[in-house]
Amino acid sequence: MSMTMVASDGARQLLLGDEIVGRINRLGDISEAPEHLARIFLTPEHRAAADLILSWMRDAGMAAHLDAIGNVCGRYEGNRPGLPCLMLGSHYDTVRDAGKWDGPLGIITAISCVADLHKRGKRLPFAIEVVGFADEEGVRFASTLLGSRAVAGTFVESVLGGKDRAGITMREAMIAFGLDPDHIGAAARAPGELLAYVELHIEQGPVLEAKNLPVGVVTAIAGATRLAASLTGMAGHAGTVPMALRRDALTGAAECIVAIEEFCRTDPDGLVGTVGHIDAMPGATNVIPGHVSFTMDIRAPTDSHRRRAVADIVRRIEGIAKARALALQVDVTHENRTVPCAPWLKAQVAEAVAAEGFAVFELPSGAGHDGMAMIDIADVAMIFVRCRGGISHHPDEHVEAADADAGARVLLRLIENFRPREKAEPG
Ligand code: GLV
Ligand code: MN
Ligand code: MN
Repeated sequence: MSMTMVASDGARQLLLGDEIVGRINRLGDISEAPEHLARIFLTPEHRAAADLILSWMRDAGMAAHLDAIGNVCGRYEGNRPGLPCLMLGSHYDTVRDAGKWDGPLGIITAISCVADLHKRGKRLPFAIEVVGFADEEGVRFASTLLGSRAVAGTFVESVLGGKDRAGITMREAMIAFGLDPDHIGAAARAPGELLAYVELHIEQGPVLEAKNLPVGVVTAIAGATRLAASLTGMAGHAGTVPMALRRDALTGAAECIVAIEEFCRTDPDGLVGTVGHIDAMPGATNVIPGHVSFTMDIRAPTDSHRRRAVADIVRRIEGIAKARALALQVDVTHENRTVPCAPWLKAQVAEAVAAEGFAVFELPSGAGHDGMAMIDIADVAMIFVRCRGGISHHPDEHVEAADADAGARVLLRLIENFRPREKAEPG
Protein backbone atom coordinates (compact mmCIF):
# COMPACT_ATOMS: atom_id res chain seq x y z
CA MET A 1 0.00 0.00 0.00
CA SER A 2 1.60 3.25 -1.05
CA MET A 3 -0.26 6.49 -0.75
CA THR A 4 2.49 8.72 -2.08
CA MET A 5 2.77 9.21 -5.84
CA VAL A 6 5.02 11.30 -8.04
CA ALA A 7 2.97 13.64 -10.20
CA SER A 8 3.94 14.45 -13.80
CA ASP A 9 5.51 17.74 -12.65
CA GLY A 10 7.76 15.77 -10.28
CA ALA A 11 6.00 17.03 -7.10
CA ARG A 12 5.15 14.47 -4.45
CA GLN A 13 1.44 13.90 -4.28
CA LEU A 14 0.26 12.93 -0.86
CA LEU A 15 -3.02 11.30 -1.72
CA LEU A 16 -4.44 11.30 1.77
CA GLY A 17 -2.33 14.12 3.22
CA ASP A 18 -3.33 16.67 0.58
CA GLU A 19 -7.02 15.89 0.97
CA ILE A 20 -6.71 16.14 4.77
CA VAL A 21 -4.94 19.51 4.63
CA GLY A 22 -7.59 20.88 2.23
CA ARG A 23 -10.38 19.83 4.59
CA ILE A 24 -8.57 21.11 7.69
CA ASN A 25 -8.42 24.51 5.98
CA ARG A 26 -12.11 24.42 5.01
CA LEU A 27 -13.21 23.48 8.52
CA GLY A 28 -10.78 26.04 9.98
CA ASP A 29 -12.68 28.78 8.12
CA ILE A 30 -15.85 28.00 10.10
CA SER A 31 -15.49 30.25 13.10
CA GLU A 32 -17.38 32.79 15.21
CA ALA A 33 -15.21 35.55 13.69
CA PRO A 34 -12.99 35.71 10.59
CA GLU A 35 -9.95 37.07 12.45
CA HIS A 36 -9.63 34.14 14.88
CA LEU A 37 -10.80 30.53 15.12
CA ALA A 38 -13.36 29.76 17.80
CA ARG A 39 -15.97 27.09 17.24
CA ILE A 40 -17.74 26.77 20.52
CA PHE A 41 -20.22 24.03 21.47
CA LEU A 42 -23.82 24.57 20.27
CA THR A 43 -23.21 27.82 18.38
CA PRO A 44 -24.35 28.41 14.77
CA GLU A 45 -20.78 27.90 13.48
CA HIS A 46 -20.57 24.65 15.42
CA ARG A 47 -23.70 23.53 13.57
CA ALA A 48 -22.24 24.61 10.20
CA ALA A 49 -19.12 22.55 10.92
CA ALA A 50 -21.27 19.53 11.82
CA ASP A 51 -23.12 19.80 8.50
CA LEU A 52 -19.86 19.94 6.54
CA ILE A 53 -18.45 16.88 8.35
CA LEU A 54 -21.73 15.00 7.77
CA SER A 55 -21.41 15.69 4.03
CA TRP A 56 -17.82 14.37 3.99
CA MET A 57 -18.94 11.24 5.82
CA ARG A 58 -21.69 10.61 3.26
CA ASP A 59 -19.25 11.19 0.39
CA ALA A 60 -17.02 8.54 1.99
CA GLY A 61 -19.80 5.95 1.78
CA MET A 62 -21.01 6.23 5.36
CA ALA A 63 -24.51 6.53 6.77
CA ALA A 64 -24.27 9.71 8.85
CA HIS A 65 -26.37 11.53 11.43
CA LEU A 66 -26.18 14.06 14.23
CA ASP A 67 -26.78 12.32 17.56
CA ALA A 68 -28.68 13.53 20.62
CA ILE A 69 -25.87 15.80 21.92
CA GLY A 70 -24.62 17.06 18.56
CA ASN A 71 -21.92 14.49 17.86
CA VAL A 72 -21.47 13.81 14.15
CA CYS A 73 -21.66 10.05 13.62
CA GLY A 74 -20.80 8.10 10.48
CA ARG A 75 -21.02 4.34 10.00
CA TYR A 76 -19.40 2.20 7.32
CA GLU A 77 -20.84 -1.29 7.49
CA GLY A 78 -18.62 -4.34 7.57
CA ASN A 79 -19.02 -7.36 5.34
CA ARG A 80 -22.51 -7.80 6.74
CA PRO A 81 -24.78 -5.22 8.33
CA GLY A 82 -25.00 -4.66 12.07
CA LEU A 83 -21.53 -5.86 13.12
CA PRO A 84 -19.79 -4.31 16.16
CA CYS A 85 -17.56 -1.41 15.19
CA LEU A 86 -14.05 -0.12 15.47
CA MET A 87 -14.78 3.45 16.53
CA LEU A 88 -12.50 6.28 15.39
CA GLY A 89 -12.91 9.90 16.28
CA SER A 90 -11.95 13.19 17.83
CA HIS A 91 -13.68 16.52 18.48
CA TYR A 92 -14.84 19.39 16.26
CA ASP A 93 -15.19 22.11 18.93
CA THR A 94 -12.21 24.37 19.55
CA VAL A 95 -10.70 26.55 22.23
CA ARG A 96 -10.77 30.33 21.68
CA ASP A 97 -8.21 31.65 19.18
CA ALA A 98 -7.49 28.04 18.34
CA GLY A 99 -5.40 26.22 15.79
CA LYS A 100 -7.10 24.28 13.01
CA TRP A 101 -5.72 20.84 13.79
CA ASP A 102 -6.60 20.03 17.41
CA GLY A 103 -9.54 17.64 17.03
CA PRO A 104 -10.43 17.94 13.33
CA LEU A 105 -7.27 16.07 12.25
CA GLY A 106 -8.57 12.86 13.88
CA ILE A 107 -12.04 13.15 12.37
CA ILE A 108 -10.91 14.14 8.88
CA THR A 109 -8.17 11.50 8.74
CA ALA A 110 -10.60 8.77 9.78
CA ILE A 111 -13.07 9.88 7.08
CA SER A 112 -10.28 9.84 4.45
CA CYS A 113 -9.36 6.30 5.49
CA VAL A 114 -12.97 5.13 5.15
CA ALA A 115 -13.26 6.90 1.79
CA ASP A 116 -10.19 4.99 0.63
CA LEU A 117 -11.74 1.65 1.65
CA HIS A 118 -15.01 2.66 0.00
CA LYS A 119 -13.27 3.59 -3.25
CA ARG A 120 -11.68 0.16 -3.32
CA GLY A 121 -14.98 -1.54 -2.46
CA LYS A 122 -13.35 -3.04 0.60
CA ARG A 123 -15.48 -4.26 3.49
CA LEU A 124 -14.00 -5.61 6.72
CA PRO A 125 -15.23 -8.20 9.21
CA PHE A 126 -16.35 -5.34 11.49
CA ALA A 127 -18.02 -1.98 10.96
CA ILE A 128 -16.14 1.32 11.20
CA GLU A 129 -17.72 4.28 12.90
CA VAL A 130 -16.28 7.78 12.85
CA VAL A 131 -17.44 10.22 15.50
CA GLY A 132 -16.85 13.96 15.55
CA PHE A 133 -17.43 14.71 19.22
CA ALA A 134 -19.36 17.91 19.82
CA ASP A 135 -17.56 19.13 22.94
CA GLU A 136 -14.18 18.02 24.19
CA GLU A 137 -12.63 21.32 25.19
CA GLY A 138 -15.33 22.34 27.68
CA VAL A 139 -14.96 26.02 26.82
CA ARG A 140 -18.63 26.96 27.16
CA PHE A 141 -20.09 25.12 30.15
CA ALA A 142 -17.14 24.53 32.54
CA SER A 143 -17.33 20.79 31.96
CA THR A 144 -15.31 18.90 29.36
CA LEU A 145 -15.86 15.80 27.21
CA LEU A 146 -19.61 16.37 26.94
CA GLY A 147 -19.87 14.65 23.54
CA SER A 148 -17.88 11.54 24.43
CA ARG A 149 -19.51 11.29 27.87
CA ALA A 150 -22.91 11.17 26.17
CA VAL A 151 -21.68 8.32 23.94
CA ALA A 152 -20.18 6.50 26.94
CA GLY A 153 -23.43 6.92 28.88
CA THR A 154 -21.74 8.94 31.64
CA PHE A 155 -23.16 12.38 30.82
CA VAL A 156 -24.13 14.12 34.06
CA GLU A 157 -27.59 15.67 33.70
CA SER A 158 -26.84 18.50 36.15
CA VAL A 159 -24.51 20.05 33.53
CA LEU A 160 -27.65 21.01 31.58
CA GLY A 161 -28.34 23.71 34.18
CA GLY A 162 -24.82 25.18 33.83
CA LYS A 163 -24.65 28.65 32.27
CA ASP A 164 -22.22 30.10 29.76
CA ARG A 165 -20.74 33.58 30.22
CA ALA A 166 -23.83 35.15 28.63
CA GLY A 167 -26.10 33.40 31.16
CA ILE A 168 -27.47 30.88 28.62
CA THR A 169 -27.95 27.41 30.09
CA MET A 170 -26.79 24.32 28.23
CA ARG A 171 -30.43 23.23 28.10
CA GLU A 172 -31.38 26.47 26.29
CA ALA A 173 -28.38 26.23 23.96
CA MET A 174 -29.30 22.66 23.00
CA ILE A 175 -32.84 23.69 22.11
CA ALA A 176 -31.53 26.61 20.01
CA PHE A 177 -29.23 24.14 18.20
CA GLY A 178 -32.23 21.92 17.39
CA LEU A 179 -31.55 19.18 19.98
CA ASP A 180 -33.76 17.85 22.77
CA PRO A 181 -31.99 18.09 26.15
CA ASP A 182 -34.34 15.48 27.60
CA HIS A 183 -33.10 12.82 25.21
CA ILE A 184 -29.30 12.95 25.64
CA GLY A 185 -29.49 9.32 26.78
CA ALA A 186 -30.21 8.33 23.18
CA ALA A 187 -26.57 9.09 22.29
CA ALA A 188 -25.28 6.39 24.65
CA ARG A 189 -23.76 3.27 23.16
CA ALA A 190 -23.52 -0.18 24.72
CA PRO A 191 -20.01 -1.58 25.31
CA GLY A 192 -20.87 -4.61 23.13
CA GLU A 193 -21.31 -2.33 20.09
CA LEU A 194 -17.64 -1.25 20.17
CA LEU A 195 -14.57 -3.40 19.57
CA ALA A 196 -12.23 -0.51 20.47
CA TYR A 197 -11.86 3.27 20.29
CA VAL A 198 -8.84 4.70 18.43
CA GLU A 199 -8.09 8.42 18.16
CA LEU A 200 -5.51 10.10 15.95
CA HIS A 201 -4.54 13.56 17.21
CA ILE A 202 -1.78 16.10 16.86
CA GLU A 203 0.80 15.66 19.62
CA GLN A 204 0.38 19.25 20.92
CA GLY A 205 3.91 19.03 22.31
CA PRO A 206 7.48 19.10 20.96
CA VAL A 207 8.63 15.51 21.56
CA LEU A 208 8.04 13.93 18.12
CA GLU A 209 9.68 16.91 16.44
CA ALA A 210 12.73 16.52 18.70
CA LYS A 211 12.85 12.80 17.83
CA ASN A 212 12.45 13.59 14.13
CA LEU A 213 9.45 11.27 13.87
CA PRO A 214 6.13 11.96 12.11
CA VAL A 215 4.03 9.72 14.35
CA GLY A 216 4.05 8.29 17.86
CA VAL A 217 2.22 5.65 19.89
CA VAL A 218 0.48 7.00 22.99
CA THR A 219 0.91 5.13 26.27
CA ALA A 220 -1.61 6.97 28.47
CA ILE A 221 -3.66 10.18 28.71
CA ALA A 222 -2.78 12.20 31.82
CA GLY A 223 -5.59 13.05 34.22
CA ALA A 224 -6.66 16.61 35.02
CA THR A 225 -8.57 18.51 37.66
CA ARG A 226 -10.37 21.77 36.86
CA LEU A 227 -11.53 24.07 39.63
CA ALA A 228 -13.44 27.34 39.89
CA ALA A 229 -12.45 29.75 42.68
CA SER A 230 -14.13 32.93 43.80
CA LEU A 231 -12.88 35.55 46.23
CA THR A 232 -15.17 38.11 47.81
CA GLY A 233 -13.91 41.22 49.56
CA MET A 234 -15.40 44.69 49.60
CA ALA A 235 -15.84 46.96 46.60
CA GLY A 236 -15.15 50.60 47.30
CA HIS A 237 -14.00 53.99 46.05
CA ALA A 238 -10.53 53.93 44.46
CA GLY A 239 -9.79 57.41 45.76
CA THR A 240 -11.06 57.34 49.32
CA VAL A 241 -10.34 53.94 50.90
CA PRO A 242 -6.80 53.85 52.36
CA MET A 243 -4.68 50.88 51.24
CA ALA A 244 -4.53 49.37 54.73
CA LEU A 245 -8.33 49.26 54.98
CA ARG A 246 -9.03 47.55 51.65
CA ARG A 247 -10.30 44.03 51.00
CA ASP A 248 -9.36 43.94 47.32
CA ALA A 249 -10.43 40.63 45.75
CA LEU A 250 -8.31 41.17 42.63
CA THR A 251 -4.98 41.65 44.42
CA GLY A 252 -5.93 38.59 46.49
CA ALA A 253 -6.52 36.62 43.30
CA ALA A 254 -3.21 37.87 41.88
CA GLU A 255 -1.38 36.56 44.95
CA CYS A 256 -3.19 33.21 44.60
CA ILE A 257 -2.27 32.95 40.90
CA VAL A 258 1.40 33.64 41.55
CA ALA A 259 1.34 31.10 44.41
CA ILE A 260 -0.14 28.45 42.09
CA GLU A 261 2.56 29.15 39.50
CA GLU A 262 5.28 29.01 42.11
CA PHE A 263 3.97 25.77 43.57
CA CYS A 264 3.85 24.04 40.18
CA ARG A 265 7.12 25.52 38.94
CA THR A 266 9.02 24.14 41.93
CA ASP A 267 7.51 20.66 41.63
CA PRO A 268 10.24 18.29 40.42
CA ASP A 269 7.84 15.74 38.87
CA GLY A 270 6.02 17.40 36.02
CA LEU A 271 3.14 19.13 37.81
CA VAL A 272 1.51 21.83 35.64
CA GLY A 273 -1.05 24.41 36.74
CA THR A 274 -2.85 27.07 34.71
CA VAL A 275 -5.19 29.92 35.58
CA GLY A 276 -6.76 30.46 32.17
CA HIS A 277 -9.65 32.75 32.95
CA ILE A 278 -10.34 35.52 35.44
CA ASP A 279 -13.27 37.90 35.97
CA ALA A 280 -13.12 40.95 38.23
CA MET A 281 -16.23 42.73 39.45
CA PRO A 282 -17.52 45.34 39.22
CA GLY A 283 -14.76 45.96 36.67
CA ALA A 284 -14.30 49.73 36.64
CA THR A 285 -11.07 51.75 36.75
CA ASN A 286 -12.06 53.73 39.82
CA VAL A 287 -13.63 50.90 41.87
CA ILE A 288 -11.78 48.50 44.18
CA PRO A 289 -12.69 45.01 42.91
CA GLY A 290 -15.03 43.36 45.39
CA HIS A 291 -15.45 40.01 43.72
CA VAL A 292 -13.16 37.91 41.52
CA SER A 293 -13.60 34.47 40.03
CA PHE A 294 -10.88 32.46 38.32
CA THR A 295 -10.33 28.96 36.97
CA MET A 296 -7.57 26.45 37.68
CA ASP A 297 -6.41 23.50 35.57
CA ILE A 298 -4.01 21.16 37.37
CA ARG A 299 -2.30 18.14 35.76
CA ALA A 300 0.40 15.69 36.78
CA PRO A 301 1.81 12.44 35.43
CA THR A 302 0.00 10.36 38.08
CA ASP A 303 -3.41 10.66 39.70
CA SER A 304 -2.03 10.48 43.26
CA HIS A 305 0.44 13.28 42.53
CA ARG A 306 -2.30 15.45 41.02
CA ARG A 307 -4.70 14.89 43.92
CA ARG A 308 -2.00 15.76 46.48
CA ALA A 309 -1.09 18.88 44.53
CA VAL A 310 -4.71 20.05 44.27
CA ALA A 311 -5.14 19.68 48.04
CA ASP A 312 -1.89 21.64 48.67
CA ILE A 313 -2.87 24.41 46.25
CA VAL A 314 -6.30 24.79 47.82
CA ARG A 315 -4.68 25.01 51.28
CA ARG A 316 -2.35 27.74 50.03
CA ILE A 317 -5.08 29.87 48.52
CA GLU A 318 -7.18 29.40 51.67
CA GLY A 319 -4.25 30.86 53.61
CA ILE A 320 -3.97 33.84 51.26
CA ALA A 321 -7.72 34.51 51.44
CA LYS A 322 -7.67 34.35 55.23
CA ALA A 323 -4.72 36.72 55.55
CA ARG A 324 -6.54 39.25 53.32
CA ALA A 325 -9.97 38.81 54.98
CA LEU A 326 -11.50 37.56 51.74
CA ALA A 327 -14.24 34.93 51.55
CA LEU A 328 -13.13 32.02 49.38
CA GLN A 329 -15.21 29.43 47.56
CA VAL A 330 -13.51 26.64 45.59
CA ASP A 331 -15.42 24.06 43.53
CA VAL A 332 -14.06 21.16 41.51
CA THR A 333 -15.76 21.58 38.13
CA HIS A 334 -14.17 18.60 36.46
CA GLU A 335 -11.94 15.66 37.27
CA ASN A 336 -10.53 13.13 34.83
CA ARG A 337 -8.41 10.23 35.94
CA THR A 338 -5.35 9.09 33.96
CA VAL A 339 -6.35 6.69 31.19
CA PRO A 340 -3.88 4.03 30.07
CA CYS A 341 -3.99 2.88 26.45
CA ALA A 342 -4.83 -0.83 26.17
CA PRO A 343 -1.66 -2.91 25.62
CA TRP A 344 -3.28 -5.22 23.02
CA LEU A 345 -4.51 -2.26 20.96
CA LYS A 346 -1.35 -0.22 21.43
CA ALA A 347 0.59 -3.22 20.07
CA GLN A 348 -1.52 -3.09 16.89
CA VAL A 349 -0.86 0.65 16.53
CA ALA A 350 2.86 -0.04 16.92
CA GLU A 351 2.68 -2.78 14.25
CA ALA A 352 1.00 -0.34 11.86
CA VAL A 353 3.64 2.32 12.55
CA ALA A 354 6.45 -0.16 11.90
CA ALA A 355 4.76 -1.54 8.78
CA GLU A 356 4.66 1.99 7.35
CA GLY A 357 8.41 2.20 7.84
CA PHE A 358 8.56 4.48 10.89
CA ALA A 359 10.41 3.87 14.14
CA VAL A 360 8.01 2.93 16.93
CA PHE A 361 8.20 5.56 19.63
CA GLU A 362 5.94 5.64 22.67
CA LEU A 363 4.99 8.80 24.56
CA PRO A 364 2.33 9.86 27.05
CA SER A 365 -0.30 12.53 26.36
CA GLY A 366 -0.27 15.54 28.66
CA ALA A 367 -3.38 16.88 26.92
CA GLY A 368 -6.87 15.54 27.53
CA HIS A 369 -8.75 13.59 24.84
CA ASP A 370 -12.13 11.97 24.24
CA GLY A 371 -10.60 8.59 25.11
CA MET A 372 -10.83 9.72 28.75
CA ALA A 373 -14.59 9.27 28.49
CA MET A 374 -14.62 6.42 25.96
CA ILE A 375 -12.60 4.22 28.35
CA ASP A 376 -15.88 3.53 30.18
CA ILE A 377 -17.22 1.54 27.23
CA ALA A 378 -14.18 0.51 25.17
CA ASP A 379 -10.44 -0.10 25.21
CA VAL A 380 -8.63 2.98 23.94
CA ALA A 381 -5.50 3.70 21.88
CA MET A 382 -4.10 6.85 20.28
CA ILE A 383 -1.80 7.79 17.42
CA PHE A 384 0.01 11.12 17.70
CA VAL A 385 1.09 13.16 14.68
CA ARG A 386 3.98 15.60 14.91
CA CYS A 387 3.12 19.31 14.99
CA ARG A 388 5.42 22.26 14.33
CA GLY A 389 7.26 23.51 17.40
CA GLY A 390 4.88 21.59 19.66
CA ILE A 391 2.53 24.58 19.39
CA SER A 392 -1.14 23.98 20.13
CA HIS A 393 -4.16 25.86 21.50
CA HIS A 394 -2.72 28.69 19.43
CA PRO A 395 -3.38 29.90 15.87
CA ASP A 396 0.15 28.92 14.81
CA GLU A 397 -0.66 25.23 15.30
CA HIS A 398 0.60 23.45 12.16
CA VAL A 399 1.07 19.97 10.73
CA GLU A 400 2.99 19.29 7.51
CA ALA A 401 0.99 17.56 4.77
CA ALA A 402 3.58 14.75 4.73
CA ASP A 403 2.99 14.12 8.43
CA ALA A 404 -0.79 14.19 8.00
CA ASP A 405 -0.26 11.65 5.22
CA ALA A 406 1.95 9.49 7.45
CA GLY A 407 -0.70 9.53 10.18
CA ALA A 408 -3.40 8.56 7.69
CA ARG A 409 -1.32 5.70 6.31
CA VAL A 410 -0.75 4.37 9.82
CA LEU A 411 -4.44 4.64 10.67
CA LEU A 412 -5.49 2.97 7.41
CA ARG A 413 -3.04 0.13 7.97
CA LEU A 414 -4.29 -0.27 11.54
CA ILE A 415 -7.90 -0.45 10.32
CA GLU A 416 -7.17 -2.97 7.59
CA ASN A 417 -5.21 -5.23 9.93
CA PHE A 418 -7.34 -4.68 13.03
CA ARG A 419 -8.02 -7.78 15.10
CA PRO A 420 -10.56 -7.49 17.95
CA ARG A 421 -9.27 -8.35 21.40
CA GLU A 422 -9.39 -12.07 22.04
CA LYS A 423 -11.01 -13.14 25.31
CA ALA A 424 -7.77 -14.44 26.85
CA GLU A 425 -5.62 -11.55 25.61
CA PRO A 426 -3.93 -9.59 28.41
CA GLY A 427 -4.58 -5.90 28.98
C1 GLV B 1 -7.84 19.60 25.90
O1 GLV B 1 -7.33 20.05 24.89
C2 GLV B 1 -7.16 19.71 27.17
O2 GLV B 1 -6.19 18.96 27.38
O3 GLV B 1 -7.51 20.61 27.95
MN1 MN C 1 -7.57 21.06 22.75
MN1 MN D 1 -7.97 17.89 21.18
